[in-house]
Amino acid sequence: MARILAVGIATLDIINRVDSYPPEDSEVRALSQRRVRGGNATNSLVVLSQLGHACAWAGVLVDEPDAAPVRADLDRYGIDYSACRRLATGKMPTSYILHSQATGSRSIVHYRDLPEYDLESFRRIDLTPLDWVHFEGRNVEQTEAMLAYLRTQRPDLPVSLEIEKPRPGIERLFPHAGLLLFSRDYARAQGHGAAPALLQAVAAQSPGSDRVCAWGEAGAWALDRGGRLHHSPAVAPPQLVDTLGAGDTFNAALIDARLQGMDWPAGLVRACRIAGAKCGREGLHGVT
Ligand code: ADP
Ligand code: FRU
Repeated sequence: MARILAVGIATLDIINRVDSYPPEDSEVRALSQRRVRGGNATNSLVVLSQLGHACAWAGVLVDEPDAAPVRADLDRYGIDYSACRRLATGKMPTSYILHSQATGSRSIVHYRDLPEYDLESFRRIDLTPLDWVHFEGRNVEQTEAMLAYLRTQRPDLPVSLEIEKPRPGIERLFPHAGLLLFSRDYARAQGHGAAPALLQAVAAQSPGSDRVCAWGEAGAWALDRGGRLHHSPAVAPPQLVDTLGAGDTFNAALIDARLQGMDWPAGLVRACRIAGAKCGREGLHGVT
């Protein structure tokens, strides 16, 4: 069991399940609706806690009614959120999600109007007991400051960084993390049609890091810091039910594999297996 801190977001996800993705300017009726906690960092922590780790979240919580399901879900998994920045006013970030029953796909409209987690809050965290810190690559300036501070306090601590979206200057963060987790969206935004091309392209910017890129039903690739490329195919579930949070699950399972000292081929296979199992069920409960 490791002690893991994740810095990133929690959201309210309003998930409408529909028969199939609707055409523009149409009206459809949802088959069902769920209002649940979401957000990449907290999704990954929910999976890591089910894998037996002691998890803590550092992010922003607003004192408003939509924070209640977020807190309740974190409590359910024993995730410590005492390091959060608490705001008296504002709105929890909210995602409006269409979940297509026909394909299992999820389309997300995300609304956010909230300050990001910052260095000032991060400095209050006791870093001494931690075994791993995971960051979402969000506000570049504050994330860079937190990563630099972390290095002065705990240079030995393994750090992972998720790069999901292109953001100005995000490449500055690459040298600060030993494990870089790229998304297919980021690779495509950089003009790459496949994971290995992205991984080779970022290699020069991250000579001391291992780099990973998940690619949906094609599985995932890693280019380790020694320059070796590894691949695992995806593990298809018996029935494709819900892909929301597959990437967050994959990241969690890979962090777990690294903590266990698995080699790259075995670690990728395990992460694809757990992410595939997630795609075969609704939500994140019981994915391990
Ligand atoms: P995201 O949720 O960020 O879009 P991806 O779609 O890249 O993430 O998926 C992450 C991982 O989840 C993939 O590497 C794969 O292992 C698994 N996965 C995603 N979609 C499927 C699928 N249709 N079938 C099996 N596994 C999948
Ligand atoms: C899934 C997810 C959702 C959330 C959105 C935020 O990966 O974390 O739970 O609403 O992405 O971008």
